[in-house]
Amino acid sequence: MNVSYRKAFFFCLISITSFAQKFTFYQDVQSIFHAHCAGCHRPGEAAPFNLITYNDISKRSDFIKKVTTNGYMPPWYANDHYTDFTNKRQLTEAQIQTIGSWIDDGMPKGKVNLEAETKLLERTDAGTAYHRKPDLTLKMAQSYLQKGDGEERFMVFKIPFELPAEANVEAVEFTSNNKKIIHHANYAVHPVEDPSIDIHTTVSQINLGTDEKYNYDQWLPYKKQMVYYGGWIPGSSYESYPAGVGWRMPQRGVILLTIHFGPAGKDAESIDGVNFFFKSEPIQRTVKVISLGSGGIGQKDIDPPLMIFANDKSTHHLQVTNRNEDISLLYVWPHMHQIGAEFKAYATTPTDTIPLVHIPKWDFRWQELYRYRRPVVLRRGSVINIDGTYDNTAENPANPFNPPKLILSTGDMRSDQEMLTLLLVYVPYLDDDEKKTWE
Ligand code: HEC
Repeated sequence: MNVSYRKAFFFCLISITSFAQKFTFYQDVQSIFHAHCAGCHRPGEAAPFNLITYNDISKRSDFIKKVTTNGYMPPWYANDHYTDFTNKRQLTEAQIQTIGSWIDDGMPKGKVNLEAETKLLERTDAGTAYHRKPDLTLKMAQSYLQKGDGEERFMVFKIPFELPAEANVEAVEFTSNNKKIIHHANYAVHPVEDPSIDIHTTVSQINLGTDEKYNYDQWLPYKKQMVYYGGWIPGSSYESYPAGVGWRMPQRGVILLTIHFGPAGKDAESIDGVNFFFKSEPIQRTVKVISLGSGGIGQKDIDPPLMIFANDKSTHHLQVTNRNEDISLLYVWPHMHQIGAEFKAYATTPTDTIPLVHIPKWDFRWQELYRYRRPVVLRRGSVINIDGTYDNTAENPANPFNPPKLILSTGDMRSDQEMLTLLLVYVPYLDDDEKKTWE
């Protein structure tokens, strides 16, 4: 930059600042909090307080200014230079400045307009983060009590359903009145068309850590087909599909909902289930889900196997070849546990490398279903590569053991064990997908 140019630039900055408008809460600021913070900072969600109303926000202004300027909030851990996701929730530089100068100006309210928060609280009451109320919520019939004895528990709940008709799913989300005690949840939707298979009188819940697990046999008749498999981990939100894309909610069947309750210091109840949002337009492309790595395809091919020695940092690889149809990805969901340090996935073809997702500094507490801007095409024959790095040293503050000890990945995948998993949400490829965007 030469001198005169620099002067001109400096001059511009000054003149912009001196004309800087005063931001007001209802006109400029509230919408930023609703879009970027209130997904978690609302009743029933993972965050410790609400950020919805003027009062919620103004009384925490110092704290908010700090965590937005230093980038701690909103949490977002993907490397956006590697892949561009549409659900990224960071604030732009301009939004951070808007919040900061509004706080510095003494947080003027502007013309009071409660419409946005009234609508948001209505949706919150309905237990959803989506932009409208669910068309159907299927929940456990009875609340579950997680005892405050410091034990973690793996529970599976059966939620039977019989609907008036099939329906086209536009969006789906896990819902709970108490997400703070949940470490993660997974759910499968199984159609049960045969009326001679009873969906009601079999057991309704199983604790996988006790002999109740043998009752799982009662549910095997439901598991012949599965139309959907989804999940929730702190930080993740709903899954929604573009026009023409989705899946068919069967008329009759069961949801098998697996919930991993974290250790709790006092008794806590939760009622959990799944929200469905339907659309009337037909579904031309049916969404499918596969899981690669621990608990899924290629689990045994992880190299070296997930056996992470005390005081070691190690990287483990998995390669899975797409031997079936060409597919177009909508979402990816990387998953590791507490000593995860870095996660990278990409696909290779004879001529190309296709970036899928990179989390440079893995943080177990913040996980997300990442949504692509455009279809990511994985042709038959392309190879999906997953690299997971783990830090099992004492320097890792997330290490569940002090001093560190050998960490394995065995059947029940407790949170103090490890996983290397990548979930792919996709549709079969259609011509010209490379040129489309998902919106
Ligand atoms: C993905 C969920 C999520 C989003 C989005 C989110 N938060 Fe948070 N936030 C949390 C959770 C959970 C905590 C408590 C745990 C922690 O502090 O790490 C938290 C803590 C905080 C804290 C307290 C920090 C501390 O050190 O105790 C502040 C302040 C905060 N958030 C502000 C915000 C603001 C402002 C936004 C939006 C710009 C935002 N958060 C977006 C989940 C979220």
